[in-house]
Parts: sequence; C-alpha cells; structure tokens
Amino acid sequence: MAEKSVGTDSLAMETKKAYAGKKLRMAFIGCGGIAQTHLGVLQDFPEVEVVAGVDIVPDRLKVMEEKWGVRAVYADWKKMLREVRPDAVNICTPNGVHARPAIDAAAAGCHVLTEKPMAMNPVECRRMIDAARKAKVLLCVGFQFRYHPNTEYLVRAREAGQFGKVMFVKCQALRRRGIPNWGVFGRKHLQGGGPMIDIGVHVMEMAHYVMGSPAPVAASGNTWTYMGNKKSDVVSMWPHWDHKTYTVEDLAIGQIRFDNGAILQIEASFVAHIEKDIWNFTLMGEKGGCRWDPPAVFTDSAGTMVNAAPAWLDPRADFTALFGYKLRNFVDGCLKGTPLRAPGEAGLAVQKMLDGVYRSAAAGKEVKID
Ligand SMILES: NC(=O)c1ccc[n+]([C@@H]2O[C@H](COP(=O)([O-])OP(=O)(O)OC[C@H]3O[C@@H](n4cnc5c(N)ncnc54)[C@H](O)[C@@H]3O)[C@@H](O)[C@H]2O)c1
Repeated sequence: MAEKSVGTDSLAMETKKAYAGKKLRMAFIGCGGIAQTHLGVLQDFPEVEVVAGVDIVPDRLKVMEEKWGVRAVYADWKKMLREVRPDAVNICTPNGVHARPAIDAAAAGCHVLTEKPMAMNPVECRRMIDAARKAKVLLCVGFQFRYHPNTEYLVRAREAGQFGKVMFVKCQALRRRGIPNWGVFGRKHLQGGGPMIDIGVHVMEMAHYVMGSPAPVAASGNTWTYMGNKKSDVVSMWPHWDHKTYTVEDLAIGQIRFDNGAILQIEASFVAHIEKDIWNFTLMGEKGGCRWDPPAVFTDSAGTMVNAAPAWLDPRADFTALFGYKLRNFVDGCLKGTPLRAPGEAGLAVQKMLDGVYRSAAAGKEVKID
C-alpha cells in the first residue's frame, strides 16, 4: 500500500493548537491562470487572508494588486517568505517550479498546497515530503478529482466490498484537439512532459485513489509526437499553440503493475484522432466493476446482472466546486488539523507511475518502480 499521510495525529494536534481561532494567512507563488481560479474560490473563505503574491511577470502581480487587493507582491518567493512570513503557500507555478518553492516554504514553517502534478519526478517529490516532515508542516497536492462526487461514490462502493479484489483499471484522458496555447505546457524541461503529466495525471490519480492506492512496482509504455511540433491551420478550441518550442509528447500510452497484481492502463493525449474528448475510467474487480462517468457499479445481485446508478449525488461538481472542496480540505487541515485527502505521499505514488511510463518509453521496455 502507498505510504501513510504526513498528517499524523500529533501533527494534527499541534496544527489545531497553533491555529485555533486564527485566520490562515496564505501567499500565492505563481499568479497565472490557475491561481485566478483559486483566488475566485477563496472569496468564499472568510478564514483565509491572501497576504502576498509572487510572480516573475509584473502584469500578473498587477492583477494581484488591482483585482484581488493583495498589497505585498514579489518577484522572488524567498524574499516574500522572509518578509511576509505566511502560514501557508499555494504553489501555482509551472511543474518545474513546484519543488523548490515548496521546500523553501516548508523550511520557513509554512504549510504547502501545490498544484498538480506534484513535481517533475519522484526525487523532487521525496525531497518535498522530507522537508515537510522535518518542519512538521502539511504538504497537500491539488488533486481536485479526489473530491468529485462520482469518485467519492466509487470509493464508498470499493470500501463496501462491491468490487472485491480489483484486477484492472482503464483510464482515458483524451482530447481530440487541445494543446494549451498559453503557459509552458509544450516545454518538457519546464513541465516534465505533455498530456501524460498534465491531464493523464488527473484520471490516473482518481482511479488509483478508487483502487485503494496500491503500490506501483513496474511500468511500460510509449509516447509519440506527431502534431504539436508542427504549425496547424485546423480550427479548434485552442489554436496557434507554440509549435516551435513544443518538445513534449502528443500521445502517451502506459501500463502500471501494482504489488497486489492489479494493472492500471492509461491513455493520455492532447491531440488524439478520436470522435470526441474522453475523460473517464472503468474498473474490473472479481465481484463487481464500475465506470466513473456517468457513475455506475456493475455487479451480480439476486441471481441477476445488475447495473446500479446512484439516485442522487451532489450536483456541485464543476471546476469551481472541485477547487472549493480541495481548498476546504487544505484549509481545514491547516486550521483544524483534519486529515489531508491528497497528502504528499499520494502525489509521490502518482509521480512514480508517470515517471515509470516516461522511463519505459525512453528505454523501450518495462521498467521497475522502486
Ligand atoms: N488542478 C488543475 O486542474 C489545474 C489546471 C490548470 C493548471 N494546473 C497546474 O497549475 C500550474 C500552473 O498552471 P497555469 O495554467 O496557471 O499556468 P500559467 O502559465 O497560467 O501560470 C503560471 C505562473 O507562474 C509564473 N512563474 C513561472 N516561474 C515562476 C517563478 N520562478 N517564480 C514565480 N512565478 C513564476 C508565471 O509567470 C505564470 O504567471 C501547473 O503546474 C499546472 O499543471 C492545475
């Protein structure tokens, strides 16, 4: 099984004592697209005060000041940590700039929420976990699909024994034409990879969570680049991406083997020639199976093959709602000591799988995962 959360009982007690009755003073490191979603959602969190913003682009800091009324803005997170001394940081920088600010913030005594994927590779994740443990602060990964009502339903179904032993999960995060035309999503040295690490991570992590977080032991896979590095005139949702700097894959296919014998298969693409986008997973267990969207459990009952669908689930499942749930979990972890649903260890397990697929693609054979 994956490692246990940093949020131990004693840490929870200390956290509770330290923050009882106080506001959580949060600083943003990276103030681009996704930070704006966080900032909008935090308007409904009176217990959170956004005390600083850090970005290397001055216009982004201007938005922090003018739109969100954040007075302390910086180009350097180290200076911000020294001068503002926030209680927590929310890291919304490109993937290659998650680990360094997380480690510095933990060393400065701040709780850390980092956007997904946790980092570039498992070594960085391990360093982040060690820094958080040493400083006795919380480290949370922004896996919002863990809080999706469909995911929660399927976790309850697994816990109720409806699947029995889980054997196989098939994950798909496929866009027909959706290369981000902003940010640095096409640059491998800044992002660590393409659709596998950017969108595959979401479906992979929620499926892994529904499986019960078994430990990955081996990976095999391949990646292909055939469109992102070329100019395209095809009309699409996000046209004119930066094809000249595009160094990531367009399509990644991977298979992960776990210590309990289960297999997870993942298909991730920004530009797959398929009928329409797919964001889903299906699971097969010895006693039952399931589908994430629309949510359903497939099993045998009363001598009959039954397809069961929930009569009601919380309908608040859009992007904003999911960000609300993940911020609530992090903020409650900081202020009340409640357990994190996506601690650093969960991020590390997922990173090992992503990394395994990329390593296998480079090696041309199955690779071990430590
Ligand atoms: N959870 C989700 O659904 C979701 C959705 C989108 C993006 N993300 C993640 O959020 C992160 C950011 O993505 P985005 O879409 O906001 O990208 P973005 O390019 O819009 O924003 C990133 C910001 O970080 C800033 N930055 C870069 N280097 C910096 C540094 N050294 N110090 C301070 N600031 C720096 C950039 O100037 C930019 O403003 C990525 O890790 C991405 O995977 C998560």
